[in-house]
Amino acid sequence: MTLQNDLLLRTARGELTERVPVWMMRQAGRVLPQYRAVRERAGSFITLAKTPELAAEVTIQPVDAFDVDAAIIFSDILVVPEAMGLPYEMIESRGPVFPSTVRSQADLSRLRVADAESDLGYVLDAIKLTKKELNNRVPLIGFAGAPFTIFCYMTEGKGSKTFSVAKKLLYTDPNFAHALLQQITDSTIAYLQAQIRAGVDLVQIFDSWAGILSPEQYRTFSLPYIKQICDLVGSASDRDIPVTVFAKGAFFARHEIGQLSCDVVGLDWNMDPKESRELIPDRVLQGNLDPCVLYADFTQIRAEVKQMLSNFGHQHYIANLGHGIYPDTDPDKARCFVDAVKEM
Ligand code: CP3
Repeated sequence: MTLQNDLLLRTARGELTERVPVWMMRQAGRVLPQYRAVRERAGSFITLAKTPELAAEVTIQPVDAFDVDAAIIFSDILVVPEAMGLPYEMIESRGPVFPSTVRSQADLSRLRVADAESDLGYVLDAIKLTKKELNNRVPLIGFAGAPFTIFCYMTEGKGSKTFSVAKKLLYTDPNFAHALLQQITDSTIAYLQAQIRAGVDLVQIFDSWAGILSPEQYRTFSLPYIKQICDLVGSASDRDIPVTVFAKGAFFARHEIGQLSCDVVGLDWNMDPKESRELIPDRVLQGNLDPCVLYADFTQIRAEVKQMLSNFGHQHYIANLGHGIYPDTDPDKARCFVDAVKEM
């Protein structure tokens, strides 16, 4: 049962380690031609995500291709709304769309708290199969969206630059907003606990749209729900499961995020490493290379990685990008990023 490479786990738990661990957000996906081939075979993103054999295969692809220190289970944050009774579609070159939205108490009354075992059994099966096929090479990361980010998609119905429909509801119907956020939170806690029972070694919460809120709104509509998740997910198992909170754009909330019962705080590239260390003195930090650096030449990528590592320091740190890798990145550049971290 012991992992051959448990570097990421030891670092996430706050231990001192022999080198900086590295993985990439969105490493399993369109950046790899082998992913595109499997997706083609599956026919659609959703079929791929719902077929445990294929999900396990694409989860392991980046471990083989990039030699990263962790795998992240192939799925999407939007499986939670679907499990609550709000199905989504994934439209090629447009992204996710919800044919119906939730904008009132009446809409909410048609949803339920997700039952992880029955509604999300396909993700749990994919986790069990991936753990088996990984054969203890590296840890497996589970994940979920933060309640506010999920709220954005469920109310807006699709991606948006401003999410003004979602934000409007925070002002016009805060009671409804809190009720929906609580139902998402309850579903997410059950889901992450089930992922842990299925075998994931650590979990990450993605608050991808945190940056559209004011500090005050963030304290009201996002942080309390992430706090509930951090306080409760660990109790699912006797194993020590580190929790990472990645709130993109929430530079203003770094100190408060660092006081949650999480182990790792993820940073995007707008957040200065040294300033972040001061604001978050006693947590492991993860991040934060601009994914666009991977469009630069190999020499420049190595120089940027070197600078990043010297800014963060080599302990209590997990190297990553500051957000998901872009699909048109050259896989050799991604490999260069990983190798550069390992060589320093
Ligand atoms: O390697 C991994 O990170 C594992 C898989 C993963 C996916 N989505 C697969 C995916 C993870 C961790 C996610 C998280 C996710 N999904 C987030 C949070 C992280 C972030 O990027 O901020 C968000 C906001 C979503 C919602 C989502 N899913 C959007 C907005 C899109 C469309 C944009 C895009 O990248 O295409 C997706 C689709 C999606 N999720 C794809 C993949 C591989 C591409 C779909 C395809 O293959 O056709």
